[in-house]
Amino acid sequence: MTIDVKKIARNDLFQLSHQPTLRGRFTVPGDKSISHRSMIFGALAEGVTTVKGFLRSEDCLATMNIMRQLGVVIEDDGTEIKVHGVGLHGLKAAANDLDCGNAGTAMRLLSGLLAAQDFESTLVGDESLSVRPMNRVIKPLCSMGAVIESEDGTAPLVFKAASNITALDYVSPIASAQVKSAVLLAGLFAEGVTSVVEPKKSRDHTETMLKGFGAEVEVDGLKVSVKGLPTLKAQDIQVPADISSAAFFMVLGLIHPDADFVIENVCINKTRDGVIHILQAMGGDIELSNVRDQAGESVADLRVKSSKLKGIDVPHDLIPSAIDEFPVVFVAAAHSEGEFKLTGAEELKHKESDRIEVMVAGLKKLGVDCESLADGAVIRGQHDITLNNACVDGHGDHRCAMSFLVASSLNAGYDISVKGCHNIATSFPDFFDLMKGLSVDTQLVVPVITIDGPSGVGKGTTCALVAEALGWHLLDSGAIYRAMALKAIGEGIKPEDEVALQSAAEQIDLRFEVTENLDIAIYLDGKQVNDELRTEACGEMASKIAPNPAMRTALFDRQKDFQQAPGLVADGRDMGTVVFQAAPLKVFLTASAEERAKRRHKQLQQKGVDVRIRDLLKDIEARDLRDSSRKVAPLVPAEDAHVIDTSDLSIEEVLELVLTLAKKYGLQS
Ligand code: DC
Repeated sequence: MTIDVKKIARNDLFQLSHQPTLRGRFTVPGDKSISHRSMIFGALAEGVTTVKGFLRSEDCLATMNIMRQLGVVIEDDGTEIKVHGVGLHGLKAAANDLDCGNAGTAMRLLSGLLAAQDFESTLVGDESLSVRPMNRVIKPLCSMGAVIESEDGTAPLVFKAASNITALDYVSPIASAQVKSAVLLAGLFAEGVTSVVEPKKSRDHTETMLKGFGAEVEVDGLKVSVKGLPTLKAQDIQVPADISSAAFFMVLGLIHPDADFVIENVCINKTRDGVIHILQAMGGDIELSNVRDQAGESVADLRVKSSKLKGIDVPHDLIPSAIDEFPVVFVAAAHSEGEFKLTGAEELKHKESDRIEVMVAGLKKLGVDCESLADGAVIRGQHDITLNNACVDGHGDHRCAMSFLVASSLNAGYDISVKGCHNIATSFPDFFDLMKGLSVDTQLVVPVITIDGPSGVGKGTTCALVAEALGWHLLDSGAIYRAMALKAIGEGIKPEDEVALQSAAEQIDLRFEVTENLDIAIYLDGKQVNDELRTEACGEMASKIAPNPAMRTALFDRQKDFQQAPGLVADGRDMGTVVFQAAPLKVFLTASAEERAKRRHKQLQQKGVDVRIRDLLKDIEARDLRDSSRKVAPLVPAEDAHVIDTSDLSIEEVLELVLTLAKKYGLQS
């Protein structure tokens, strides 16, 4: 399936297929950090900078657009980009706000640039970027003389026209290439030398590239200095492949049962290659070959093979150079023997999402034994772990979403759906295409709302109303079991006769047809059986045959077939726990047995059937016990189900609660 990554909605669900063998040679798109910087430095240089291999992700295109808004001519013929530099003092005020989208790098780097301009500008970002901390750049820039307005240290950021930017010797409390780059960029506009000292070395693309563009840059251990007011000269830049994108494939290969492939041309800059060292320390078979220098950056081909990984304590000195790769490293840790521990990585909480909480929540749902720490996580994985089927949420964080997608493709039996994939295009628009290159397909998963619970709880009516309100399909799985019961009664099959039940289930001729007045007519062996299915005797028999595992397996695919676009409301006992485990919304309705007996009594009276409430209550209690204590698919709420007690609620109130939940989960047609 071809996915238009730019059109993915917040609540679209995806899963990757499993490919038993992964072989091939491929490369991943250009480095994001270098792509951003190529636009900014190219703009400040004199002459025309050419850029090949530029990452056409939303983040980098945001930077490109902003430089255009600041008066820079940028030509893009699809393969090569030409940036017509305007020189250090040639930028012009933009007519509108400058939109960084989801890109933290753009906002922080451009803060350094705009803080030093003699015109006013405003940087804005999307919802996620607008809550990320910007004081870390605002503070040092203001001490260089910049005037920046912001509420609570978050975007929008308004940069007043600067009159006198002065050099600064800045001791940064955090190892952050974005902070370092913002200060150095502002320093380009100050007389004298500006320096930044970091507690640990962060990625060094700014200093390396500025040097390449002709600035006087000095690197002394953790201190980087740049002399202000340089004349920058246009460069020809070949952007190497992004190690952060390659990391998803590295982890996929290592934890896959049969992988042996090569990722070519990957940037292995020393300040970025932490993920390779961490994965190798975990026992990962990643072999570097053809190591070469490409326009100042070290580049290599990486051969990745299936490996038996083990948990490690991540050495602190590797954290800055692997900071963006931890979401997918966590997935590797879940497939590693023993304990994996990461501490000292508090920074992960301030990325596109709180990556510690998002990853730990998702992995826990997948059944991984793990916990979050204030500055990291502990993950107790297993080499041969089988993940739970579930719906996990990447929370709009591109790297978390892609990490969960990698997990979804590891086993042919997995039914893992991932939501929150809508920002994948910010860093890796080709993710799904490259997966396809390895024959790993992407499926758009049809959403399901499961509504389980005992009989008499109002499930049937609620499900029909929810399906109608959303315009979705409806599966009344109880009717399938009742039809089986009717068949068993008709053919004299005993509830204990597993073989006969299985073969009847495999052959059952059952059709559901929507009638003219939009009811559903149920046909068993060509005969409409709606009324017969609703009798007490049929329900009783259904409950008796229901525990039969072989029969349930035979009926599994028949129920799965109902999962059709635009969505399905599935009514039953085990919809959330067995049949549709990857459903994004699971509801479990309960009510006291007394209340259910009263409701049933009223229903039967309306039909002119005279039974005693006491007898109905006894039947209901016996059926509850049978349904909930059976070994196979017992009637219990799924761990991630919303339990609603309907004892004191009207059907309208229950419907409203379910529809509110559906809205909260974004499940609308
Ligand atoms: O929901 P109902 O009353 O129509 O279901 C009749 C019986 O079928 C119920 O007692 C248990 C069984 N059943 C089941 O085991 N699994 C389902 N998903 C639905 C029904």
